Amino acid sequence: NGNYTVTLIPGDGIGPEIADSVKTIFSAAKAPIEWEEVDVTPILKDGKTVIPDDAIRSIKKNTVALKGPLATPIGKGHVSLNLTLRRTFSLFANVRPCVSIQGYKTAYDNVNTVLIRENTEGEYSGIEHEIVDGVVQSIKLITREASERVARYAFHYASENGRNKVTAVHKANIMKMSDGMFLTACRDVAKEYPNIAYDEDLLDRVCLRIATDPTPFADRVMVMPNLYGDILSDLSAGLIGGLGLTPSGNIGKDASIFEAVHGSAPDIAGKGLANPTALLLSSLMMLRHMSLYELADKIEKAALSTIAEGKAITGDLGGKATTQQYTEAILAKLK
Ligand code: IPM
Ligand code: MN
Repeated sequence: NGNYTVTLIPGDGIGPEIADSVKTIFSAAKAPIEWEEVDVTPILKDGKTVIPDDAIRSIKKNTVALKGPLATPIGKGHVSLNLTLRRTFSLFANVRPCVSIQGYKTAYDNVNTVLIRENTEGEYSGIEHEIVDGVVQSIKLITREASERVARYAFHYASENGRNKVTAVHKANIMKMSDGMFLTACRDVAKEYPNIAYDEDLLDRVCLRIATDPTPFADRVMVMPNLYGDILSDLSAGLIGGLGLTPSGNIGKDASIFEAVHGSAPDIAGKGLANPTALLLSSLMMLRHMSLYELADKIEKAALSTIAEGKAITGDLGGKATTQQYTEAILAKLK
């Protein structure tokens, strides 16, 4: 029927509410998307938490998924299902753009960054043990293969998206071997892209520079190991107004999952107050991934102009609108 089937994981807390908003907006925009909704409530199997088979099968079949927040226990309990999904499908590159939102005032109005985070290893390899009482070792695993793969994706992304430079972000002054190898991989890949400039900068220095003046980062793509990307993407989100506004895409060879980076916000869950913008912008990254550019542009314009007009603003952005009022304001623009 000319439609694309996409797996939808509404997620925990505010997840179902913001997913509803996206679904409503997509139908109003006549998006040719059929949602296949799956549940990823973790199940315990042989002492390990796993994602239900139906969800795995659905993502495998559809190769594209949109995902709401999944709660992760701190310091105990099961491995984050967010990570399990990234690992299960080898979603090796996590693309995190941050663009200033017109109408929502922050210190800078010209933020336009793209950060690409290695998404399968580093400190996220989950290898930890207590050597003796009071001494714990957590392994940061870096491979040449994953470093090269994410570096190549960063250069590819830069060349496809009109960005003329790739900056590798690292701490190879301290982690001489692991980050050193990450840099070697980036340098080697840089040679394959003579039209894209390449440089390197230290993570702490980039944090300072980007918070001081994000302007120089608008023309480039940053690429970095997993944990650095986790932290720097929150810092970047802070520059434009927080995680309620930033999308992300987990890109793999056989599947890609687009997700809001924010948490499940249990304090406001079920009250109709959540801001669906991050999930909506993630869904637009998804549409562009599926080459549905015009449709993505149309929905983006409706959402961003709604925020710019300042009439239907959710609480996180200082307004009083409910999720539904904000959604309806977007729908009115799509008519
Ligand atoms: C993110 C999140 C996740 C991460 C959590 C929820 C496991 O913070 O996507 O940035 O640490 O990667
Ligand atoms: Mn994070």
